[in-house]
Amino acid sequence: MKTLGKRIEEKPWIGWVVFLITVVVVFLAGLFTYTIVERRTEAQFVFQPVKDLHPLEPRLEVWGEAFPRQFNTYNQMADTTFRSEFLGSTRLDLLEKNPRLVILFAGFAFATDYNLARGHYYSVTDVHETLRTGAPMKAGEGPMPATCWSCKSSDVPRLMAEMGDDEFYAARWSEVGHEVVNPIGCVNCHDPQTMNLRISQPALVEAFERQGRDVTKATHQEMRSLTCAQCHVEYYFGSGNKLIFPWDRGLKAEEVEEYKDNIEFADWVHPLSRTRMLKAQHPDYEIFKLGIHAQRGVSCADCHMPYRTEGGVKYTDHRVQNPLNNVANACQTCHRQSEAELVRNVVSRQRDVYDVREKLEIALVNAHLEAEFVWNLGATEDQMAPVLQHIRTGQWLWDYGAASHGGAFHAPQEMMRMFGNGVNHAQEARLELARIAARLGHSDPIPIPDVSTKAKAQAYLGIDLEQRQREKNEFLRIVVPEWLQRADERHRQWDSGERDIVPSR
Ligand code: HEC
Ligand code: HEC
Ligand code: HEC
Ligand code: HEC
Repeated sequence: MKTLGKRIEEKPWIGWVVFLITVVVVFLAGLFTYTIVERRTEAQFVFQPVKDLHPLEPRLEVWGEAFPRQFNTYNQMADTTFRSEFLGSTRLDLLEKNPRLVILFAGFAFATDYNLARGHYYSVTDVHETLRTGAPMKAGEGPMPATCWSCKSSDVPRLMAEMGDDEFYAARWSEVGHEVVNPIGCVNCHDPQTMNLRISQPALVEAFERQGRDVTKATHQEMRSLTCAQCHVEYYFGSGNKLIFPWDRGLKAEEVEEYKDNIEFADWVHPLSRTRMLKAQHPDYEIFKLGIHAQRGVSCADCHMPYRTEGGVKYTDHRVQNPLNNVANACQTCHRQSEAELVRNVVSRQRDVYDVREKLEIALVNAHLEAEFVWNLGATEDQMAPVLQHIRTGQWLWDYGAASHGGAFHAPQEMMRMFGNGVNHAQEARLELARIAARLGHSDPIPIPDVSTKAKAQAYLGIDLEQRQREKNEFLRIVVPEWLQRADERHRQWDSGERDIVPSR
């Protein structure tokens, strides 16, 4: 065999052919690498910050012109067909599903109406429609303060800037109803100049400050949870209906109870047991922080807003939803197990937690009803004091877990711990009630009325749902369209320049 060198010596054109082929191959390889790099860059810089967007622009569709992918995926939240074994985005009457809630929340608005959340897209509509907000036909009427809007709308940061935070909190819900029409939106989580994540909820900034921390120093990964912690948290209304996150002593149920005990706080007095009750809101962030994913640095957005790719473009899925409807992007980026296996893992943890939760609910319902009976036998305040303390703590431990949506997956052990301790408190209360009843001459088991359906339980409490629904329908027919019309006019004036988005005070 002749070597290539020999052949080239004999026929020099072969050398030129080899040279040219090499040039072409190198050129193509270079081109290929360049395309990959370009795609990568594209993936990182899929957006251009928009300089002329007002920093407090509430309208999602205005932001959407610059960020169509995020806006379009946000709008997919309109679809509410997904249901999992325990949760989902379908509107579901939780009182119908679980009538025990009616007795547990007796005397409080949740005993009249309580539905499964549908998602951010519906945040304003759902607040209009729930019976809990009443039917205020005039501005200033109705049961709720404006503070209720704090977690519901992209109009709130604008309103707070316009009115001042304290003035906003001090207003009634119905006074600012015509100002709040856009659902939770871009401005709640983003700075339009940079598109960086930002905190727009003063209560979160203040809760950090009281703990000597600065929320603006949070890491990028922390912000991917803290943006959610603006709303998915435990809170209460302080003086002047100011929104406060009670985290000063820690995030655990007992630490928050201690905080509330310390200020002698009660949300309402239970009409059956006469207990000064605490209502947990939705400590989703708090419970999540106590679970393994948070401890391993996973953020809310990793599962609820995972990345998505379209062609070479990688972006954040703004359909904030139940991860079980999106296991491939939400879980399989980190876990190699099959979708079926991962769903099984979630559901089996939840079933175990719900099993104990149900036992706690039954014990608490009985405790309230037995306490009512024992009061009627003539029990004294002194006799009942230890009972009421157990009921207060037991129901707090129940509610802090039950109101934490997803908590049974986010931190199953913590939920088990709370519910287990809750069962103990509820049973201690019942034991003491039996003793008091015996001392008052009643030694038989305490009779429990039939409150086994939503209708029976509400009838027992004297709640007239039909009357409330009629009033609500009037409100929805007359007041809400008026609010929406005034908002349309305001939006038109912003666009025409007749009015500033935040007029100077
Ligand atoms: C509940 C909070 C929240 C809301 C509301 C929200 N975003 Fe985002 N957005 C995020 C998070 C979290 C990320 C991921 C940021 C990161 O990791 O850097 C993100 C990322 C982005 C990005 C960066 C590119 C990308 O896709 O990762 C853009 C642009 C964006 N959002 C636009 C919007 C627009 C437009 C809206 C309103 C229609 C909106 N966002 C509403 C939380 C939110
Ligand atoms: C401005 C307040 C606010 C912020 C910020 C916010 N949420 Fe929500 N979220 C809500 C409210 C209110 C609802 C219930 C809305 C309804 O159903 O009408 C809700 C509902 C949800 C639901 C239930 C949807 C379903 O399909 O069942 C999920 C999941 C959720 N949020 C996750 C998140 C995550 C994750 C973040 C952060 C990236 C976040 N939220 C940020 C207020 C907020
Ligand atoms: C960003 C990465 C990441 C994502 C996304 C993620 N996980 Fe995990 N997961 C982890 C880590 C880390 C652990 C802890 C494992 C360890 O340290 O050994 C874990 C643990 C678990 C465990 C065992 C912990 C327990 O409760 O006993 C389950 C089950 C689980 N993940 C399910 C899921 C499901 C379901 C999803 C999607 C909804 C998901 N994970 C999304 C990283 C992730
Ligand atoms: C490791 C993945 C993962 C992380 C991280 C995570 N979640 Fe979840 N979340 C889930 C799963 C799984 C469920 C339960 C879904 C079910 O059972 O249908 C859930 C349920 C929820 C729900 C109720 C959804 C519904 O359909 O009603 C809310 C609200 C929620 N999570 C908020 C949050 C918030 C806020 C954070 C951060 C503080 C967070 N989650 C962090 C996986 C996660």
